[in-house]
Amino acid sequence: MRVLFATSEVAPLIKTGGLADVSAALPAALHRMGVDVRILLPGYPQVLKALPHLQVAAKISIQSSFPAARLLAGSLPNGILLLVIECSELYERGGGAYQDEHGLDWPDNALRFGLLSKIAALLSCADSPLDWKPDIVHCNDWQTGLTPAYLHFSDGAIPCVMTVHNLAFQGVFPSQTVAELALPAECFQPDGVEFYGSLSFMKAGLYYADHITTVSPSYANEIQTDALGFGLQGLLAYRREVLTGILNGIDTTEWNPATDPNLAHPYDDTDINGKSFNKRELQKRMGLRIDPDLPLFGLVSRFTHQKGVDLVLEIAPQLIAIPAQLVLLGNGDVEMQRTALELSHHYSGQISAYVGFDEALSHLIVAGADIFLMPSRFEPCGLSQMYSQRYGTPPVVHATGGLIDTVLDSNVATLEQGVASGFVFHSMDTSSLLATARRAAMAYHDKKTWRALQHNCMIKDFGWNQSATAYHDIYMHLMRR
Ligand code: ADP
Ligand code: GLC
Repeated sequence: MRVLFATSEVAPLIKTGGLADVSAALPAALHRMGVDVRILLPGYPQVLKALPHLQVAAKISIQSSFPAARLLAGSLPNGILLLVIECSELYERGGGAYQDEHGLDWPDNALRFGLLSKIAALLSCADSPLDWKPDIVHCNDWQTGLTPAYLHFSDGAIPCVMTVHNLAFQGVFPSQTVAELALPAECFQPDGVEFYGSLSFMKAGLYYADHITTVSPSYANEIQTDALGFGLQGLLAYRREVLTGILNGIDTTEWNPATDPNLAHPYDDTDINGKSFNKRELQKRMGLRIDPDLPLFGLVSRFTHQKGVDLVLEIAPQLIAIPAQLVLLGNGDVEMQRTALELSHHYSGQISAYVGFDEALSHLIVAGADIFLMPSRFEPCGLSQMYSQRYGTPPVVHATGGLIDTVLDSNVATLEQGVASGFVFHSMDTSSLLATARRAAMAYHDKKTWRALQHNCMIKDFGWNQSATAYHDIYMHLMRR
């Protein structure tokens, strides 16, 4: 089986969040199952710099507003084959994958990800410029949402799967973009790509894909509701027969406390003492008072409303009064960044914040903190709460999406059954979060309970095998149709 996996980010080359991790780990898991998978990715400067030996595989010139491009072939550090779209006009510039240095969306994002979508479709049709022909094209989020639409209007198209990693981002552009991106005018209607008078990349994907998946079973239900459907709940409910929630896995090689090069000291479930050296190192590096006994809360997150970081900032003074310490790593919302730094300054030694994106520090926080905070308002899947469990750092989470599917609240019954793996709160407000953080801190001081909880977390299987098999089953089903 041959699969083209189209995505806008892949770790470690270019990453803004969990999509990059999944785009590296899922293809790798499929490859281990014998699938011939190739990732299609825009040639951002970070990608071209990290992979200097890419070979030209094809020249591509598409009519309409798309600039000429070349397709380069190579492989990721993990050996997975990669097709990179080289198009200097659209991709080779400073800033990030979606935004400029000031955090503003690139004004030509429709064209940038229209080209990604268009080339994914081109490689999946009868007139592909490559000898390698996929059996399935797997699209991810709005950036590849137009692929199913292009395929619908092409000859000899193969089946396509559309995975929703986050419905909050939809790629909505003015109506004239339809013509600029060479989409047939007839698709611009409610039964098509039109969304309240605009073009929606996400809606296009959801409308035309042969199968839709999302990244946890709970989120698959939630996106069919008014509360979390972001206007697309009707379409998703209508297509529920072809909508499947498949929980993400994690890369257990990349995220392994026994071999993680970012840690001060390796450890595993049989030798948890090593974890305390990481706590000490984290306290030292972040300027916190060195104290092995105070519970240390950690947070690594995009600073956005979705992640509930505002709630953590609001309760921070009460959190450290438990008593406890708090370490924050993240970037995004300017106001949240400012508040985090102010808290860090004002409560120096007890709260420490680093504003920025730092992969190595994120690993040290997951290892060195005692309790991980993830109070997301909504969470399609969430990876960090799985990383933290694997590192023996039980998470405090809001009962939503993938968080409910991966964390079991610690109570008498779940502890007795040996399945408790964190602390869950149900009402999205500061008092519930604080009460649950207090409950976690109390449990932390009960050494026997805490050790049992850490053990439950660390032995859980978060690997990709089961989920990759679920994707494989969907591919097989589509190929047989
Ligand atoms: P999302 O994709 O919505 O941001 P996930 O939990 O799925 O949420 O994935 C987030 C990923 O991004 C994790 O690997 C997390 O460690 C990482 N991450 C988020 N913010 C930062 C940061 N500031 N520095 C380093 N890693 C970060
Ligand atoms: C999105 C979601 C996150 C998920 C990730 C990978 O960024 O916000 O919950 O884990 O995609 O699927």
